[in-house]
Amino acid sequence: FGGNGQGGGKLNFKAIAPVPKNVDALTVPAGYDSHVIIRWGDPIFNDAPEFDAKNQSAAAQAKQFGYNNDYLNITADQGNSRRGILVANHEYTNEELMFDAEWAAANPEEVRRIAIEAHGMAVVEVRRDKAGEPWNYVKSGARNRRITGSTPFTVDGYAAGSDLLKTVADPTGKRVLGTLNNCAGGTTPWGTVLSGEENFNQYFQGTGSATDARYGISSAPSERGWELTDPRFSAQNKGYENEINRFGWVVEIDPQDPTSTPVKHTALGRFKHEGANIRVAEDGRVVAYSGDDERFDYVYKFVSKNKISKDREANKKLLSEGDLYVAQFTGDSPASEIDGSGKLPSDGAFDGSGKWIALTKNGKSQVPGMSIEEVLVYTRLAADKMGATKMDRPEDVEPNPVTGKLYIALTNNTDRGKPGKKAGADEANPRAGATSATANRDGHVIELTETKNDATAVTFNWNILLLCGDPKNPVSQQYFAGYPAEKVSPISCPDNLAFDSKGTLWISTDGQPGTIGYCDALHKVTLTGAERGKVEQFLAVPFGAETCGPLIHDRDNSVFVSVQHPGEGGSFAAPISYFPDYITNPAQAKKGQLSGPRPSVVQVYSPAGAN
Ligand code: FEO
Ligand code: CA
Ligand code: CA
Ligand code: CA
Repeated sequence: FGGNGQGGGKLNFKAIAPVPKNVDALTVPAGYDSHVIIRWGDPIFNDAPEFDAKNQSAAAQAKQFGYNNDYLNITADQGNSRRGILVANHEYTNEELMFDAEWAAANPEEVRRIAIEAHGMAVVEVRRDKAGEPWNYVKSGARNRRITGSTPFTVDGYAAGSDLLKTVADPTGKRVLGTLNNCAGGTTPWGTVLSGEENFNQYFQGTGSATDARYGISSAPSERGWELTDPRFSAQNKGYENEINRFGWVVEIDPQDPTSTPVKHTALGRFKHEGANIRVAEDGRVVAYSGDDERFDYVYKFVSKNKISKDREANKKLLSEGDLYVAQFTGDSPASEIDGSGKLPSDGAFDGSGKWIALTKNGKSQVPGMSIEEVLVYTRLAADKMGATKMDRPEDVEPNPVTGKLYIALTNNTDRGKPGKKAGADEANPRAGATSATANRDGHVIELTETKNDATAVTFNWNILLLCGDPKNPVSQQYFAGYPAEKVSPISCPDNLAFDSKGTLWISTDGQPGTIGYCDALHKVTLTGAERGKVEQFLAVPFGAETCGPLIHDRDNSVFVSVQHPGEGGSFAAPISYFPDYITNPAQAKKGQLSGPRPSVVQVYSPAGAN
């Protein structure tokens, strides 16, 4: 197959073999090269210092690319294929990899301040000489921006200004400093970026309340100790009881305007948002889908009140008003046939129907005993009351831009069915068990079709597309939409989803080293025709890394990934990964380099174009 180098590629590739977990390399298919666009610490302003691992400061980090890039988007500017803009999330920090331990012990305050500035998001302009060539970042880009753990945000939606969001530092309840644990996200049709504040609980010291417990907030001192640097990080400090309620939202930033104030949208509810992705309904209302990444938590959708238009500023307010729903899945097979083993029921499919249960409607709570502010701030408790289906850790929930079908990555949940845990097997989460023989170690992927393919529908049908795993080393049953298991690449712990221009699904993984023993990966999954369910591995990330933020520019013969936390499991002094610069001798590290890993954004491309 060839000849597609002119005017659009097809990303033809032969699946790579799975890569053993301790291989410290980015592995790509034959005919492809990789190129690092930007890495942690790279300066993104003219006056930003070069990265210097042995001379770090919060002031420097605030002007450099942050740590642990996760969600990623790269868009060419309208009418110019040689210039564009990159947006990345910076989910969290690995202090043990970032800092010399001796220096960190002597400078705990600066370590905390650096870490706060290493979180958040980055907007960076990119440039290339011609279409098809790899992108490079522009240090002096006019739109370059860092959003960190200290950047001012406004709050909008029905809970903005609520007493539940007020602190001594912000009596308005409408102005928050920072965004934290930004995991996945989505780019809106109006060109802004949505980002999910996920495991925000870890940054706070709570009070031991019931709501703290439901959100996993401990009353013990936080791991990073930020409450020692800024009192707002402990709810035990008077006046800051509500600071924690100001995190756990979907945030929206406008990458085209570096002076714009980013927004936290309360109308989409507060939970561990993996991300948020938009589908425009036929009537012009926009629907945002979002998963709550926790064992036994829920899948949500938000339907805007207003319709999309040509007015970009009006579109930026679409997520401010609308109705919030949570998903309830019902299987169509007898419960007796869902035995927790992952074995297909007699109708040959894990499938059924479901409904979207309204938590808010027309600006009013639909949950007995809770105000709309309470529903939005304590969304998990609201959904608990309404009979939502407890899922196996919902990660990305993304509509296919070609077909409208929704795909839900359920990364794993080995607690299902264990004594004392919250639920046993059901048809939408059919693996359960106290033993590893049946537990959902490897995760699954649900395909959901809204009734009449209307994104605003309140009912749907669903089926399980994949029950992940390694068919050659099975622990429990696998299922690849009926495709022969011996012909697929092994896949475990699906996390981020992406689609190419034809609507083919791509899945990146988080956790394969610990389950099936391979480096985390990016896979292509055919959805239609005789090869539906065929999983083909495209790349593997280095030792200790997770594959995040996949972006498929098939017409450009390019795939982009965030290589997140390479070398996790090692330390600054004893790295297990040297990605991406591979300077294994510290004496050979020049300024701006590090003898150790740096999270990076990578472009994988076919130089020949016609592969
Ligand atoms: Fe940050 Fe759910 O992965
Ligand atoms: Ca994720
Ligand atoms: Ca069935
Ligand atoms: Ca993850």
